[in-house]
Amino acid sequence: MRLNQCQNFHDFRRMARQRLPGPIFNYIDGAADDETTYRRNTQAFEACDLVPDVLRGVAQVDMSVTVMGQKLAMPVYCSPTALQRLFHHDGERAVAAAAGKYGTMFGVSSLGTVSLEEARKISGGPQVYQFYFHKDRGLNRDMMVRAKAAGVQVMMLTVDSITGGNRERDKRTGFAIPFRLNLAGIAQFAAKPAWAFNYVTHERFRLPQLDGHVDMGGGAMSISRYFTEMLDPAMSWDDVADMVRQWDGQFCLKGVMSVEDAKRAVDIGCTGIVLSNHGGRQLDGSRSAFDQLAEIVDAVGDRIDVMMDGGVQRGTHVLKALALGAKAVGLGRYYLFPLAAAGRPGVERSLELMRIEIERAMKLMGCRSVADLQRRHLRFR
Ligand code: LAC
Repeated sequence: MRLNQCQNFHDFRRMARQRLPGPIFNYIDGAADDETTYRRNTQAFEACDLVPDVLRGVAQVDMSVTVMGQKLAMPVYCSPTALQRLFHHDGERAVAAAAGKYGTMFGVSSLGTVSLEEARKISGGPQVYQFYFHKDRGLNRDMMVRAKAAGVQVMMLTVDSITGGNRERDKRTGFAIPFRLNLAGIAQFAAKPAWAFNYVTHERFRLPQLDGHVDMGGGAMSISRYFTEMLDPAMSWDDVADMVRQWDGQFCLKGVMSVEDAKRAVDIGCTGIVLSNHGGRQLDGSRSAFDQLAEIVDAVGDRIDVMMDGGVQRGTHVLKALALGAKAVGLGRYYLFPLAAAGRPGVERSLELMRIEIERAMKLMGCRSVADLQRRHLRFR
């Protein structure tokens, strides 16, 4: 399969599956428990129909949005995700470059494999720092100072991962970082020599955000164990309020799902929240962000920028979220499979397809700007 044959998420996923060793593909593709929330995230969009307007003079459409003070040329951004150089040897570099080219935001994770400083130099667009709150308070302080000094515009604290989700696919393959695999997992690596060649002929795998604090060389650990052992389950609203004060800039919480918590985020001075269930990778059975969007926008949408992620595979999914009041929509696997399939050209193609889909759908909906998209354009089944 070739990149120019990829027309949608499913094609990219298929191409990524051909390239990646099974344990890595399954790390990206997998989710928690029975993966019901993962499936539900996309199904939620399908339970909602679009009701278009016609004859609205849509020769030109403007899909730009402003979110957390950042102007984005398109209403989607590349959510920060971990371990990108495992998926393709360019990793975060490819995503930063592609996001910059499409005038949108991207993020580097605490578990990123390129330093946030290097990524900052690659993309001209806004950059998010995805923050995991570690038990090691010194590490937390250092990460904030580093991100500020590098010119990161938005701090994004993940609040749904204080313990590891039950990712049974990873348990079966033995997926861990750097690498530890059981016998079945090793056999799957041997089956993808091109990936293995690229991996060993490029720079060593590192987690530059954690350098000097977390010694990953001493022993591999699963992502689930990492969350459980290194992150602080005692993290509270008071801790986050301190962080918001220290950061003194655009600060958002990723993983808020209830109205109650959305209000608390406003109270402590956050400027954004991302409704998210971590791609179904943490709490299986959790409601989809899309289904939860309307009531949160109604409660806090005039005081804080509400975003969402999870299950977004199409331009029409993005339009539905915007019509409910989301300020922008995050992509995860949507750009990760293209990254794994083809590196930077893959991510660029996926963003190009998304841009074209959004533009076409806006025209067919009779909407010239994102502000034209309203609740009246939606009916739930
Ligand atoms: C995951 C983390 C690392 O979902 O974001 O695997």
